Amino acid sequence: MEMSYKSKELTALLEVSRVLTESFDLEKNLTSAMAILSDLLEMQRGCVYLLEPLSGELKIVAAHGLRPDEIRKGKYRIGEGIVGRVIETAEPMFVPDIGDEPKFLNRTGSRPGKEGISFLCHPIELKGEILGVISVDRIYSREHGGVDDDLRVLGIVSSLIAQFVGLWRIFKEADTEREELRRQLKDRFSIPNLVGESPKFQSVLKMVAKVAVTDATVLLLGESGTGKELIARTIHYQSPRAKGPFVAVNCAALPENLLEMELFGAEKGAYTGATERRIGRFEKAKGGTIFLDEIGEIPPSVQAKLLRVLQEKCFERLGSSESIKADLRILAATNRNLLDEVKRGNFREDLYWRLNVVSIRLPALRERREDIPHLVNYYLKRFNRKYKKNIRVSEEAMEAFMEYHWPGNIRELANTLERLVIMTESDIISAEDFRAGAVCMEADTEPVLSIAGEKALSTEVETIEKNRIIKALKENNYVQARAAKALGITPRQLGYRIKKYGIRLFE
Ligand SMILES: Nc1ncnc2c1ncn2[C@@H]1O[C@H](COP(=O)(O)OP(=O)(O)OP(=O)(O)O)[C@@H](O)[C@H]1O
Ligand SMILES: [Mg+2]
Repeated sequence: MEMSYKSKELTALLEVSRVLTESFDLEKNLTSAMAILSDLLEMQRGCVYLLEPLSGELKIVAAHGLRPDEIRKGKYRIGEGIVGRVIETAEPMFVPDIGDEPKFLNRTGSRPGKEGISFLCHPIELKGEILGVISVDRIYSREHGGVDDDLRVLGIVSSLIAQFVGLWRIFKEADTEREELRRQLKDRFSIPNLVGESPKFQSVLKMVAKVAVTDATVLLLGESGTGKELIARTIHYQSPRAKGPFVAVNCAALPENLLEMELFGAEKGAYTGATERRIGRFEKAKGGTIFLDEIGEIPPSVQAKLLRVLQEKCFERLGSSESIKADLRILAATNRNLLDEVKRGNFREDLYWRLNVVSIRLPALRERREDIPHLVNYYLKRFNRKYKKNIRVSEEAMEAFMEYHWPGNIRELANTLERLVIMTESDIISAEDFRAGAVCMEADTEPVLSIAGEKALSTEVETIEKNRIIKALKENNYVQARAAKALGITPRQLGYRIKKYGIRLFE
């Protein structure tokens, strides 16, 4: 049974709105929309022209019933021809017989015999802005529709297209922005940006360059502040997964049950109060890299699950039996001697070997003192720029930098320089300035000098946290379990922080 023309119109409109939301491919969606108008409503040679914001030129972005060379020819400038007129006036136009119309430029050259063909053209408008036009050819027969019906349909189609183009532009912009950020990150975490000329550090860089291009699991070892996280990011951004996410998890920062959920996610109803499905970090890292920091701190239950991810490349959300494929690369770091932990029975041996496919040990700063001047100059430049100063380091101060033992490694060196650049009133940092400044960083001295507003918030928070921990320990006679309770954290978390801040325990 022949569909009535009205119901064909409705079907066509529904179909158009469906194809427009099918993807974010502008040409594909619009071409499908034009095809629907042609198939269902006999509107032939449909074209969508969009204005190029920069050149002001109108370009065909999608067409149905035109050859590619005809599409290429179809450029109009505003004001030219009928299409141009529609853009200018923002009013639809109908040309009953294009053979009679002098304004009809026939730029595409696709209508050799113009007689008998009518031409309809409708502006595409979004919130008062003309984005382009839609045009169709139509050969009217007595039984099918009229001009008013066609213009009404085109009006609806053009507003659907306008909505889509509006969304598409936002998507495009975000996409360009993301691409730019990605490029910046890639630059920032590139090997030339890592400071260090010493043979020890150079051999680290060689390893980094080698493993970056693979998908191998890498274990990063080294004291606090030696650059484990920086190297992990560098590996990610120089790897084939650079376009995917980099997800860092500090395994020591969360209590056991939360860590498991954080990593693997949880199904709705997996525990009391789980009102929604939670996506874990392993899922968030899809296509990219997960960085498991402080891997030595993960409890046995999580160790077993992690082993399964490494061996079978899959995992389940808490409270679910559905297996999820782990499309990610694992990088891990620790400042513990993991083999000792294995011997003590705190860390699974099989997991250790799985993680240890490649291990990179980052040398402590005191093992590569020749890099200190390079690092000092690097950070001096950076903080001079940041604080709009022009401070130098005296020769004696440089010597003091090189002699100091840097328990906090590069992080400590960077923090020290930042503080010195802020505090130093002359334009040169002397050896005395250094001594006065570096002493503040000594792990066992109390209230660390804080420069409100100028220090990074994280360091400020860390200072507060460290002082609170020292206070709680003293008040509880250094019984860690009691101190932890007083602070409202677990003993494991306290232990981690004591290590992190190098807090000395007086028994
Ligand atoms: N080779 C390097 N060149 C320049 N800056 C570096 C280098 N290595 C590390 N840094 C800087 O030192 C600081 C500490 O590095 P990072 O956080 O990677 O250390 P970490 O080993 O993860 O420390 P922790 O074990 O305490 O977490 C960061 O600000 C980092 O940018
Ligand atoms: Mg770290």
